[in-house]
Amino acid sequence: MDEVFPMANKMRIGILTSGGDCPGLNAAIRGVGKTALLKYGMSVVGISSGFLGLIQNDTVELDERKLSGILTVGGTILGTSREKPFKHSDSGDLFNKPELIKKNYEELGLDCLVCIGGNGTQKTAHKLSKEGLNIIGIPKTIDNDVWGTDFSFGFDSAMTIAAESLDRLHTTANSHKRIMVMEVMGHHAGWLALYSGLAGGGDVILIPEIKYDINIIAKYLEKRASEGKPYSIVVVAEGISIPEINIPTSASGECLAKVSACSYIARNIESLTGLETRETILGYLQRGGTPSPQDRILATRLGTHAAELISHKRFNQMVILSGSDISSIPLEIAAGKIKTVPVDDPLIEDARLIGTCFGDRL
Ligand code: F6P
Repeated sequence: MDEVFPMANKMRIGILTSGGDCPGLNAAIRGVGKTALLKYGMSVVGISSGFLGLIQNDTVELDERKLSGILTVGGTILGTSREKPFKHSDSGDLFNKPELIKKNYEELGLDCLVCIGGNGTQKTAHKLSKEGLNIIGIPKTIDNDVWGTDFSFGFDSAMTIAAESLDRLHTTANSHKRIMVMEVMGHHAGWLALYSGLAGGGDVILIPEIKYDINIIAKYLEKRASEGKPYSIVVVAEGISIPEINIPTSASGECLAKVSACSYIARNIESLTGLETRETILGYLQRGGTPSPQDRILATRLGTHAAELISHKRFNQMVILSGSDISSIPLEIAAGKIKTVPVDDPLIEDARLIGTCFGDRL
């Protein structure tokens, strides 16, 4: 890296967390904040509720005391929101939000804004950098779909929770000789289903990146049953495509809701095979609670590196994990892209070798 900026101790940085929360956010805030305070003598401002806090000028000074004891705490001490300041609302915004953000950034005396978030956050961060703000992006998400980094923190914790849940489903599935279908999050990417499915011994893993045929899944499960395997576990990513069918949610049938991926797969398996099938949607349990040790370490490393970049005045970068190294790439390269699972990912190949079905072939 270049020389440390000689006036680094006069620098003032803002930190915000934006988008869906995930385990490890506080570890990242602590990593950036403590390095900035302790190594460089910078001052640190926490911005509340993502970009909303910068629009509403809702902030809090972060000293070392406020950053202590938060490493293992889930969620985010700063709060978060899905505020997208560059998106125009249908009602027409009264204020120009990016202008408000710029004004408050200047009035707060910030030299850099650290944006901890997923794809949407990095896209907004890049837009703000084009408006003249100094930005550092830190990728987080349980979906692991931020482009440019091998892994984002939050993923390992969510994957561990999902894998442990599959372990629990195994025993009850075995007792009742049932098919268990479990849906995990992941948005449009199948990373969480693939990793948790492999770790939790899923017999069928369905991810958005591989087109499945429900008849192939049914044949596969029937074959397992005929081979004396009394139960099966099916892991479904929430983002798989299912036909546009709606189910009535009230007696009058007025209120319609889209059927979940989990229900669609489970109900079809049962009707095609006659095998008793149950559904579990893991939902927000995947995002809550304490981060795994691996996520604590990754979030800390990304956070400390972010502060180092700031001290060298290397702005408009997103910190990344590449192999076992932490480095950074220009925000403009990462922004606006999504990292999905390549269909030839080695993990898919390995899973196929041990007989896992992805719904595309027997
Ligand atoms: O991006 C994280 C994530 O948990 C996705 O896996 C999921 O699709 C989405 O957020 C849920 O969003 P919300 O928090 O707005 O319900």
